[in-house]
Amino acid sequence: MYRTHTCGEIRIEHVGQEITLAGWMQRSRDLGGMTFLDLRDRYGISQLVFNMEVDAALCEQARKLGREFVLQVQGVVTERSNKNPQMTTGDVELTVKSLNILNASKTPPFTIETETDGGDELRMQYRFLDLRRTPLRENLALRNRLSIETRKYMDTLGFFEVETPYLIKSTPEGARDFVVPSRMNEGQFYALPQSPQTFKQLLMVSGYDRYYQIVKCFRDEDLRSDRQPEFTQIDCEMCFVDQEDILNTFEGLIKHLFMVVKGIDLGDFPRMSYAEAMKRYGSDKPDIRFGMEFHEIKKLTSGKDFKVFDDAETVIAISAPGAAEMTRKELDALTDFMKRPQIGAKGLIYSKCNADGSFKSSVDKFYDQDALAKWAEVTGAQKGDLIFVLSGDTNSCRKQMNELRLHLGNLLGLRKKGEFKPLWVLDFPLLEWDEDTKRFHAMHHPFTSPKPEDMDKMKTAPGEVRANAYDLCMNGVELGGGSIRIHDRTLQSEMFDLLGFTKEEAQAQFGFLMQAFEYGAPPHGGLAFGFDRLCAMFAGVDSIRDFIAFPKNNSGRDVMLDAPSPLDDTQLKELHIKLRG
Ligand code: AMO
Repeated sequence: MYRTHTCGEIRIEHVGQEITLAGWMQRSRDLGGMTFLDLRDRYGISQLVFNMEVDAALCEQARKLGREFVLQVQGVVTERSNKNPQMTTGDVELTVKSLNILNASKTPPFTIETETDGGDELRMQYRFLDLRRTPLRENLALRNRLSIETRKYMDTLGFFEVETPYLIKSTPEGARDFVVPSRMNEGQFYALPQSPQTFKQLLMVSGYDRYYQIVKCFRDEDLRSDRQPEFTQIDCEMCFVDQEDILNTFEGLIKHLFMVVKGIDLGDFPRMSYAEAMKRYGSDKPDIRFGMEFHEIKKLTSGKDFKVFDDAETVIAISAPGAAEMTRKELDALTDFMKRPQIGAKGLIYSKCNADGSFKSSVDKFYDQDALAKWAEVTGAQKGDLIFVLSGDTNSCRKQMNELRLHLGNLLGLRKKGEFKPLWVLDFPLLEWDEDTKRFHAMHHPFTSPKPEDMDKMKTAPGEVRANAYDLCMNGVELGGGSIRIHDRTLQSEMFDLLGFTKEEAQAQFGFLMQAFEYGAPPHGGLAFGFDRLCAMFAGVDSIRDFIAFPKNNSGRDVMLDAPSPLDDTQLKELHIKLRG
């Protein structure tokens, strides 16, 4: 037997017992006649003691051990004179009687501690060592717990887990596909699924009623902190349901997870239409942990000879609480932030609400105290607050103001960690116009059903049709989304027409689905949560990378494997691939 206990297990009640532990040597300290080692495994750390007076040879041997050596030790559990309340095993230590080196280790390239000295790239290269660190282990433990609790919840509701294939034909979810060449079919390629969308719909046609899967998805898109090229979804679909059934079922899942994993009662999730979210927050995933809502003040600002506002389609104001104290330098920095090409504002106008009830704005030349008092009234600004104003075309102005709101939310400490504010965003537009291709694109995906009451606009005003589509966001992050699907062949064909597919293209890409719709397709709908994002949300972290055991870096590379990498000539030949140049 390698061990009788784990390194996280020993407590005061084990005192006097002879036990055996196995693990990695985290660090050692020599104090005169005594040597202390910390032995670590997945479960925790135990302190080992070697006493020069009791066994000098053993103590000498212990002093020679390097960091990350794999050891097996046998000894007696003793009560510590110097207890460490920070450690779960901190009341006791193991007085070692024998030591067995199971494996040596090179000195690791960075310290395997909670606060490590290793840079990002180095830790990615030695991911197997980084994964030994407590924060990463805790992240993966959280992920494990969330997946188990998800499965329990889904099982209780009678959901059926079905695996769908990874080598498929492309599914249009808006990103590029990763493709896999076929050796047996020259010149032909599989695509890796961007999601199991069409398969889960087929499973509904097959009558499986309630499907789910915790599943890998692949998207070749630009990476950000909340995006990985391969990521995991909790993917779900149900038959004979309307939107209300789906919202309730999956609100239930998220509530369950928060309750059992964090002990937090989220209460009922508020709901907001897409149109309202855009008007009040300029975002389809608003962070509602704080206010600073948008106010359209075009009417108030017109006719004062300020051309910038007079010529703009919209003028939007927000009030930042307690920000009137901002210095000139801070305001200049904010203006620079807004003028960066990623945001693209032309400038930033402000009005300070002074403690004495007066106002000081950057446009005093055009707006007198009475006019500025109106701005304060409309935005709800109090003494000590600072009003920011942007103008322009509605879409850009909203986008820019959203960036400013979130940035100020961070600066002013309003986006509090430990606070979780879910929000269902409903009634997304069915289509969005793409200026580059001069075509409509499906805002969610082409299988999403229009709202029945907007159906008559499909031909006359397609851009105004709303979809039976919904997203769940939390703290400004899109956690998941889905829709009620089209289950009628004729309507699905019309949708492909609207999206600019010829009949032949629609048949070639989606013939299998339209054929299935001819064999008794039930009404159905579903959604998918981003599982990595859900894990990061539970931990209060923005980046999903450290909730994935072996993630890619920002250029989509696995630096440990050094992938992607070239293929040798034999493999290329087998795959019928000729490289240019
Ligand atoms: P959607 O494309 O909105 O919907 O994806 C669902 C959720 O998956 C997460 N997500 C990602 N997470 C990490 N990295 C990525 N690159 C990434 N892309 C998406 C997000 C998102 O909300 N088939 C539909 C669902 C449906 O209609 O049922 C779909 O995939 O959290």
